Amino acid sequence: MTVNLRSLFKDIDRRYGITYTYRRLKRRTRRSFLCLIIITIIIFYLFVKWTPHEVTYKNINYDRCLQNRLEQFSRDQEEMNTIFNHDPIQYGEIVSLPFTGNGYLGLSLSSQSHIQLLTDIRSQFISTGYSPIVHISSDTWEASSVTLLQMKQGLVKRIQCYKLSQERSAHVTQSLYVHRQRPSLIVQDIEITNPSEHALDLGLLQKREISKTDVQQLDEQDVRFDSPTNIYQMTTNQISTRQNNPIIYVIITNKVLSNTNVKPGSLEKQTILTVVKFSSPLSKASIANETYLNEWKVKLQKQAKDDMANALSTSSVRLLKEHVNTWSSIWQSGFRMSRSLAPSAMNGDVINRTLYYVLCSTPSPIYEFNIDESKRNELNQSLFQMEQCYESHSTLIGEKLWISPGDDLAVSQLANLWRSTLSRKGCFTLMRSGADGVLQSMLLSIGGIRFRTHHLEMYLDPKELHRDMFFRSIN
Ligand SMILES: *[C@@H]1O[C@H](CO)[C@@H](O)[C@H](O)[C@H]1NC(C)=O
Ligand SMILES: *[C@@H]1O[C@H](CO)[C@@H](O)[C@H](O)[C@H]1NC(C)=O
Ligand SMILES: *[C@@H]1O[C@H](CO)[C@@H](O)[C@H](O)[C@H]1NC(C)=O
Repeated sequence: MTVNLRSLFKDIDRRYGITYTYRRLKRRTRRSFLCLIIITIIIFYLFVKWTPHEVTYKNINYDRCLQNRLEQFSRDQEEMNTIFNHDPIQYGEIVSLPFTGNGYLGLSLSSQSHIQLLTDIRSQFISTGYSPIVHISSDTWEASSVTLLQMKQGLVKRIQCYKLSQERSAHVTQSLYVHRQRPSLIVQDIEITNPSEHALDLGLLQKREISKTDVQQLDEQDVRFDSPTNIYQMTTNQISTRQNNPIIYVIITNKVLSNTNVKPGSLEKQTILTVVKFSSPLSKASIANETYLNEWKVKLQKQAKDDMANALSTSSVRLLKEHVNTWSSIWQSGFRMSRSLAPSAMNGDVINRTLYYVLCSTPSPIYEFNIDESKRNELNQSLFQMEQCYESHSTLIGEKLWISPGDDLAVSQLANLWRSTLSRKGCFTLMRSGADGVLQSMLLSIGGIRFRTHHLEMYLDPKELHRDMFFRSIN
């Protein structure tokens, strides 16, 4: 008798649905297995995210510390977008003032510098006699430092290395910038890294008092914003200018503790925000009116507090990103020249630096947050009015136009010299749009380039033409 096993199984299966159950079971196990994996991944992710993980900072030998820190900027330095100044200066470096500005405020990362006000692009900077910068130093440890002028990003940096022992070092990076999109904001970011097994004691010095005789303090108070522990100092002052038109200004800045102790193997970050608001030059007679003076005071203090609250609600990473992005929009236009090794020849770094200082002394309203659209468009329109600009020989031959300013006031004088030169040679309308227009004018003047009814003329001394020159994005 042959038993048809297959049909028997089929029969049983049909009756009891065994295979079906088996298949379903298999599908279900597969599904739950998949779920299990997903849940495990989620738990693992949360675990990693929420447990404080130990980061170990790599120890660097003190002798190689600065060099190691500078590696990340070496490419920018080669491309002449960043200038290094060691302390003391090293062979081949060009001494450059670590200045930053946005056409309303200016400041250098140095202990002699004070916040400079630009009330009007035709006049000089007015010093407030006040510096919000925190200087970092140590009585215990030997230190070395380098200052960076990052022209492409509109930043100045100081990198310091502290010698904790023969092999071990700690390092501090400070970045300072006057925000390109927020006219009243100055930011100093500090990052202290201590990879050693010693605690690192550092002194933080912020000279908050005003060191100037023609400043009269009208008011001083502490203000608090988000957190009750962070105290800000708000001072209101009046300063007389050379033209005898007093200006009222309000400064709000973080009050910083006088020293810090960074634990072994840790990183400490601090951001110091400063907001400065100032009036236009007022007449002496009107200021004598108590009510009028008070109105200005209240108005400026309110604006300053609003701007600070606004900056505080934005992360420091975001603030920096806004700033750097705006600078890179401005630098869409630019100039490149092949390097010359001749001893007295001017190279790209001096040209970039000069462009940078003049841009720092020029507002860029096109990029500001609080400008209305019609004004923005109007300013943007004047960017394309380049007829008549530039009616003369190349500015490359004008020595005074390329000097290295030694202090903030000299930056202001350099910018004014450029502006008056360009205005006289027909670039007035083009420069009205702000930093972009000024850059366009400077580039046209470097090339001695002129657009005249749809064709381009170039006034360059033939002896300048042995170098390669590239003009980037001329409108
Ligand atoms: C002082 O200024 C206020 C507000 O600007 C004005 O209303 C008032 O008339 C002024 N007083 C004098 C004496 O000029
Ligand atoms: C700075 O100069 C170099 C060399 O002339 C050039 O290649 C570079 O593009 C310049 N940087 C900017 C931001 O224009
Ligand atoms: C200015 O106008 C040009 C062309 O009309 C446009 O491409 C550019 O984005 C405008 N710039 C700003 C900042 O609005």
